[in-house]
Amino acid sequence: MNRDSRERWSSQLGFTLAAVGSAVGLGNMWRFSYMTAENGGAAFVVLYVAMTLLVGLPVMLAELTVGRSSRRSPIQALVYFGGSAWKPLGVLFVTAGVVILSYYSVIAGWTVRYAVEAVTGGFAEDSAAHFGAIATGTRAVVWHLGFMAVTAAVVSVGIRSGIERVSLILMPLLGVLVIGLAIYAATLDGAAAGYAYYLQTDFREVLSFDVLKDAASQAFFSLSLGMGAMLTYASYLSREHHLPDESLMIAVSDFGVAFVAGLVVFPLLFALGLEKDVVASTVGALFITLPKAFASMGAAGQVIGALFFLALVVGALTSAISLLEVVVASVIDGLGWARPRAAWIAALGIALLGIPSALSQDFLGLMDQIGANVCLPLGALLLSLMVGWGRRDAVAEVSVGAEGVRWFFLWRGLLRFVVPAVLAVVLVLSVGDTWKAFAGLFSSPA
Ligand code: TRP
Repeated sequence: MNRDSRERWSSQLGFTLAAVGSAVGLGNMWRFSYMTAENGGAAFVVLYVAMTLLVGLPVMLAELTVGRSSRRSPIQALVYFGGSAWKPLGVLFVTAGVVILSYYSVIAGWTVRYAVEAVTGGFAEDSAAHFGAIATGTRAVVWHLGFMAVTAAVVSVGIRSGIERVSLILMPLLGVLVIGLAIYAATLDGAAAGYAYYLQTDFREVLSFDVLKDAASQAFFSLSLGMGAMLTYASYLSREHHLPDESLMIAVSDFGVAFVAGLVVFPLLFALGLEKDVVASTVGALFITLPKAFASMGAAGQVIGALFFLALVVGALTSAISLLEVVVASVIDGLGWARPRAAWIAALGIALLGIPSALSQDFLGLMDQIGANVCLPLGALLLSLMVGWGRRDAVAEVSVGAEGVRWFFLWRGLLRFVVPAVLAVVLVLSVGDTWKAFAGLFSSPA
């Protein structure tokens, strides 16, 4: 496509909200708070913020710079910025998008189902049995396909009238929902005990490579980095945007929603005496323990639960849209297809790939390991090297629209040395975990 006829965001707010929509998703609403509670409370929050500043923001700024300067979809953008040797990295980005969206949509399908059930009949008393019944099997496939269809419908319409419009409506709604729920949770009897559990500080917990790895990969996943989602959104930007301000805005909003979601979850669990059910940071916490709390709260639980799952659905949808857009933009630019065709066919392929995840939670876990724990850190590691050391002057590119900023040499220094070092550690540890998940899938249970 001719670069000048490429679509643009119609407003700065439109871009910001779409990017925040990509970042704020299932990762914020439950994974962050459980990791925090398990890994040292406020100490983990400090480590997480440090990882965001040291690794997340530099990579975000790198993605925005490459996207805006090239005004192309990931594969071509990397070739433009770094030369044709970087084409495989673009392919890795698109592959990661396909893999992550395939199972993300299955989980999103569960959340839609819970939201609908909350409205129509309330939450099941035996939430564990209920989750067991709906999480895998034909019905899980149907909800997954439905969710993919909605995602495809938005992306097929395009940047301005699809993604931007949906984000302008849904992101403020999400903010209001999460803050409203946190205020409600503060009035519950268990609120203080819940906060104490969530943020109880233990600095010894964070002094381990595993916790460091968890904090870094959570920051990455949560900010939608390492697979060109931010890059793709930035490719529809015009040159006057102040990229450092944009990155900061996205990161602060993302962290804000994650932190506040924890202020919702823990008071609820403690008010209802469910603290013993706070299990490992698996999907169980979200789909079993919380629904149990809602079920025991009667009519109020039905309303609060419905709003909570609605917030999750909104977060999941805007994130899924950004994942699909990476693939669709690449197909449009690479194969020259029209957008609607690219959107529906890409979505269909990804939906089919997601079916095994809707039939087996072990398979879903494996896809998550490969996509989130291996592809993302690897993608971000290579991207930081390309932008830090590559042939194009990244500092000159990022400075456009941000002329007064003096610290870009620091940014390049982080991209050259610190980011690759941290990510290399993360990658080595994650590959070990993935291998275990892989071996587990094929060894028959005793
Ligand atoms: N950031 C989203 C979340 O927290 C997930 C997500 C959306 C994502 N797009 C992404 C993760 C791109 C990695 C890359 O749920």
